Amino acid sequence: MEKLLVRGGNRLEGEIPISGAKNAALPLMIAALLTDETLTLHNTPRLADVMQLQKILGNHGADIMIAGKRAGQGRFTGETLRISAREIIDTTAPYELVSKMRASFWVLGPLLARCGEAKVSLPGGCAIGTRPVDLYLQALQRMGAEIEVEGGYVVARAPKGRLNGAHVMFPKVSVGATHVVMMAATLAEGETVIENAAREPEVADLAECLVKMGAQIEGIGRSTLRIQGRERLHGAEHSIVADRIEAGTYAMAAAMTDGEVLLRGARAEHLSAFIDVMAQAGIEVREVDGGLAVRRANGEMRAVTVETQPHPGFPTDLQAQLMALMTRAQGVSSIRETIFENRFMHVQELVRLGADITLMGDTALVKGVASLKGAPVMATDLRASVSLVIAALAAQGETEIHRLYHLDRGFEALEEKLSAVGADIERVAA
Ligand code: EPZ
Repeated sequence: MEKLLVRGGNRLEGEIPISGAKNAALPLMIAALLTDETLTLHNTPRLADVMQLQKILGNHGADIMIAGKRAGQGRFTGETLRISAREIIDTTAPYELVSKMRASFWVLGPLLARCGEAKVSLPGGCAIGTRPVDLYLQALQRMGAEIEVEGGYVVARAPKGRLNGAHVMFPKVSVGATHVVMMAATLAEGETVIENAAREPEVADLAECLVKMGAQIEGIGRSTLRIQGRERLHGAEHSIVADRIEAGTYAMAAAMTDGEVLLRGARAEHLSAFIDVMAQAGIEVREVDGGLAVRRANGEMRAVTVETQPHPGFPTDLQAQLMALMTRAQGVSSIRETIFENRFMHVQELVRLGADITLMGDTALVKGVASLKGAPVMATDLRASVSLVIAALAAQGETEIHRLYHLDRGFEALEEKLSAVGADIERVAA
């Protein structure tokens, strides 16, 4: 077991390279199951979730080669993965593997579309909410799949061996269900129209890669996607989009310390709602050559009123970090979580560091305090963990953060990146 020791008070200054997005890398790797040719993915972040997914894909028969970095690439520019699923040797995704990571449930789409059958363990609930899969199953049924849920598994079959195109109207926006139906539709017979599709940049990144693989998709980045099914897809080469959540996280880490950083590779068009909220708070996030420059506009930070929404709204994956930042702002912030029903586990931990936060149902009222104080705290989920790092960077004295496996799922080289810009942070044995 390891823990992080953070001694607060240092200003962050310098350049932070932004990695490839975890939440794009995972569906992109899964898309490799749609073809018997090789999918080459550049800029893949080195994360526990990526390694876990390699195991899952291997179980279905995919060969994965880590080809290292491309020539001339810097230290944090990710790796190149070559994934070849020449033959699917097993269409079952077992509980032992799927239960470790929810996104592995998404293999359901490609397996069913390519092999006409799949048996995938239900992912179950997780720390941030119940997270059902009803939207996935209803949509695949509309595409002709026969689905039964038995013994904790989704057992799906395309009776004709192939799914058919269909009109899918999601009653609620779901990133994962959009990924799965879009992947399945690329190999279905005829046209699929997805309405109320998720518009997250990671969905667009997957769609762009599918097009390189021979899929025909119209409406990329919009809420209606129109997909013409193909008999087969082929290999392709794709570079994973920069991680907007990592970029937003480090922007707030810098603002928390009254620092000034350049987020190399970050893209403003993926962070517009976030940039607006930062402006309300008195933090300037400017597009510059090669990335985004961040600093407080004039010293103080102001409270904000925010509610999380599907893209292009303010992302739920930045909610915990914003809450940490607002613990030091002037006034009372109101932060409403509308995507997940239980994504406030960081509140108690932030309170241990001296934050003043009141929970009222789905809304947290955060009253800015004059100072935070270091304490031992526990990471409860991925984004909650990093919110504790942000708070610790501004706290007096030392903060110990336990249960680092959550952080390692989603932040590549966090301590290295933060120490390189001046943070006093180290990983030690717990
Ligand atoms: C993705 O999860 C992300 N995960 C999450 O990031 C992110 O928080 C979330 O999208 C929302 O942006 C990955 O990309 C790997 P959803 P996903 O389906 O696809 C409900 C992180 O920290 N819903 O868009 O699982 C669901 O319960 C993670 O990196 C149904 O009701 O999220 C939720 O309330 C955490 N029925 C809402 O929709 C369904 O069948 C949105 O969830 C499916 C979802």
